[in-house]
Amino acid sequence: MSVTQEIKSRLDIMDVVSESVSLRKSGRNYAGFCPFHTNSRTPAFFVFPDTQTWRCFGACAEGGDVFSFIMKREGWEFKETLQHLAQRAGVELEAFTPEEKKRRSHADKLTDLLAAAADYFHQLFLHAPQAKQARQYVHGRALAEPTIAAFKIGYALDSWDACRTHFNAQGYSDQELIEVGLLTENEEKGSRYDRFRNRLMIPIRDGDGRTVGFGARTLDKEGLPKYLNSPQTPVFDKSHLLFGLDTGKRDIREARQAVIVEGYMDVIQAWQGGFRNVVAQMGTALTEAQLNQLKRYTKRFVLALDADAAGAKATLRSLQVARETLDRDVDVKFDAYGLVHHEGRLQADIRIVTMPAGEDPDSIIRDDPGRWPQLVAQAKPVVAYVIDVATQALDMSDAKAKTAVAQQVIPLIKDIADPIERDHYWQELARALHVDERALRQIRLPEKPTSARSTTAAKPAKKRVNGWTAVPRKVLANGHTVAASMKQSDYLGQCLQRPRLIHLVNERLVRCGQTAVAEADFHDPEDRAILRHMHQWAAAGGPAVAVIEDLWDILGDALTVRAQFLLSLPLAPDAELERLADTLVLSVLDWRLEKVRQLLNEVKQFIKESQMENDQDALAVYQQQLRELPLTVLQINKARNAMSAANRRRATDMT
Ligand code: UTP
Ligand code: MN
Repeated sequence: MSVTQEIKSRLDIMDVVSESVSLRKSGRNYAGFCPFHTNSRTPAFFVFPDTQTWRCFGACAEGGDVFSFIMKREGWEFKETLQHLAQRAGVELEAFTPEEKKRRSHADKLTDLLAAAADYFHQLFLHAPQAKQARQYVHGRALAEPTIAAFKIGYALDSWDACRTHFNAQGYSDQELIEVGLLTENEEKGSRYDRFRNRLMIPIRDGDGRTVGFGARTLDKEGLPKYLNSPQTPVFDKSHLLFGLDTGKRDIREARQAVIVEGYMDVIQAWQGGFRNVVAQMGTALTEAQLNQLKRYTKRFVLALDADAAGAKATLRSLQVARETLDRDVDVKFDAYGLVHHEGRLQADIRIVTMPAGEDPDSIIRDDPGRWPQLVAQAKPVVAYVIDVATQALDMSDAKAKTAVAQQVIPLIKDIADPIERDHYWQELARALHVDERALRQIRLPEKPTSARSTTAAKPAKKRVNGWTAVPRKVLANGHTVAASMKQSDYLGQCLQRPRLIHLVNERLVRCGQTAVAEADFHDPEDRAILRHMHQWAAAGGPAVAVIEDLWDILGDALTVRAQFLLSLPLAPDAELERLADTLVLSVLDWRLEKVRQLLNEVKQFIKESQMENDQDALAVYQQQLRELPLTVLQINKARNAMSAANRRRATDMT
């Protein structure tokens, strides 16, 4: 079994897809709105648990497995996708080249070191006599044992070298301790000392639960800084981390809502109170990277802000980022002249709640857990909140200031999807500013207004994933036969060794009305990735004959094993390149035909099932396929006949 097969066998595509697409059961399968093209009318996106594949029967007409799904959703290359899924599936990736082996074992060592450090601080916290004050402090904050264990709360001794000595003895070098931020180096003085001393240690973990750094709280009332965090390291990047995501992601999905708070302690206290859909930003404004992680689980966010932070620049900045990051749905509208407008509307629901002055989620939940859900439920939609904040301190006699506020708020209003709600806020803003609503609607927004972004113009570009070629015609959802796989391997093997074939084959395909060979022609995610690299490589004018050493650099470890196999396939003699291309075209057409036929059979079966269940939506999609697929079969057959005739002619010419 290849690594990709191993990974696929351990994962359920339903888990992965349902992170970002809401699906409903339809017979044996699941249907939903395609996440890759904007559409809210037909749920033409299907997941097939039996074959562990997905397919959009709508505008994309694309399909694939869990690999292609993640590559599209995240915009990742194969390599990143492989690493991500391997991690998820608990599959260890073999390092291939010596350099990669070295690099990886170093990275692993640092990860191990951070995990060991979390354990070390935790053990000290639980047992060391010196940690007595820390234990009292935590007790005073009403944290119980299971909470302390779940977050691995720790204690760093009041010493300049205890941590260093401990880990040196375990075989970690000073350099490694510096790299993960446990040791600080003063180069001028040539001294090194423990970064964290006499502090409460809160391990910070990434979304997958790996410890990547620490937030360390002072135990003194006056101690500064209150929280000393790990320095920026390759694994500790505040702008990418959300505290509590590892413990909270399941609950976020289940609650269909993420509550974003400000502090570590807020998350911990909320978790203890049973509110586990809570994460903390890391003392910075919300970033795009943070929202991108969160939106895999939900598109409904509540920002729970401390009173002092409410209205602060950082908050408004967070909202701006949120608006830019989160997906927009597209509405097609007709104006009075019958002109079509595409308008982008924010799909996400972002709400804001301000904590009562002097309180934060931690203190609220500690005092009375029942108040928390009430507060969260009172969260106001962004627009209402911004109107409040922007008009609170406004001098109503200052006309210019009023215009400025209007310009700030109007783009938000225009983003609202629901027309009634939108109207409501036009009125609300007019009232808050003491102006006439008609005047408000005529305000010109400054150059490059945010509302310009709410048209679709920019969006499709973003949706196009690096080099992912959309496949114009139907590709099968599963369709994995040995014969077809062999043909695909053969095609890749020949083309790798004779890159000119790529062009010759495509030229012939196009001439007989078919599309060029594309990633979606292949079953195997590794083959898709190899094809992509092969195209880039051929486009860059790579050498005429590939050798595995050249490929190593381009393909990386993950694909080299597969490429090596492909290169070991028998090579046809040079002189017969044109003939070889003819044969390969027929082979491509064969496997395409097989795929379409198989899809057709499945569609017939699905039609029966959806008739039985009276699932009209799914039925409509399948029936359309039943009409279209035979046409595809016809076209492939036509191309095949044309190719065979040409081959025969060539054969006669040669004799
Ligand atoms: P707060 O000062 O509101 O922290 O900072 P808190 O969580 O309520 O702290 P407690 O309850 O007094 O223990 C909010 C967040 O800002 C970051 C931390 O992420 C903190 O949780 N912060 C704050 C720092 O990184 N460094 C600081 O010195 C202060
Ligand atoms: Mn607090």
